[in-house]
Amino acid sequence: MTFLATVTAVVAARYFTLDRALFLAQQRAVYAANLVPLLFHVGGGVLALATGPWQFVPGVRTRYPAVHRTVGRIYLLGALAAGTGGLLLVPKGLYWPVAPLGFAALATALLVTTGKAFTAIRRRAVAAHQRWMVRSYALIFAAVTFRLWLAAGSGAGLPFDLAYMSGAWLSWTINLLVAQRLVARLGSRRRTAR
Ligand code: HEM
Repeated sequence: MTFLATVTAVVAARYFTLDRALFLAQQRAVYAANLVPLLFHVGGGVLALATGPWQFVPGVRTRYPAVHRTVGRIYLLGALAAGTGGLLLVPKGLYWPVAPLGFAALATALLVTTGKAFTAIRRRAVAAHQRWMVRSYALIFAAVTFRLWLAAGSGAGLPFDLAYMSGAWLSWTINLLVAQRLVARLGSRRRTAR
């Protein structure tokens, strides 16, 4: 997960070169005309994607709580920027309405789960904070599953528009289902430890 997240973050960071030849070909003109929300979105996404996996390493959390808190704040700002920037890009998205509405639902779910994780830890509810963060990161990780889905679709000969529209919904719903299973397993492990 960490490897795939880091590779996707590095590849996405190419937008900061401002070299339009490196932009998604189908959206080159649209992105060039909306650079501010795009870079806000990509910058936040890159930060959240790259920092998230380290927050789940138990050794870092217990031995260096100050590092966990600082990286957590960076993740929070990244997820906020990715979500709000994503919502700003929705009206300009490819294949309206199917794909952009999928991304709008993803952005909303990301903002809600990340907000819940933040309010849980402010109340010192550690278990709830962990559950909401697993869900939040599963949604951020949709950036990876979406691109894997596009690559697999192209390998299987699926037309790009079909792969893009289905991926805009499946990339995050599948991740959220996996997150729910992880959360359930965490819960039963905690109960047996008691
Ligand atoms: C999790 C919430 C996210 C939402 C709601 C979201 C939404 C969107 C939307 C609506 C677009 C425009 C799509 C279009 O033109 O059709 C977009 C593009 C883009 N997003 Fe996200 N995104 C999310 C996460 C991320 C993350 C974590 C990254 C970091 C890797 C990222 C990187 C990009 C990039 C690089 C583009 C430009 C298109 C491309 O080159 O693939 N996004 N996103």
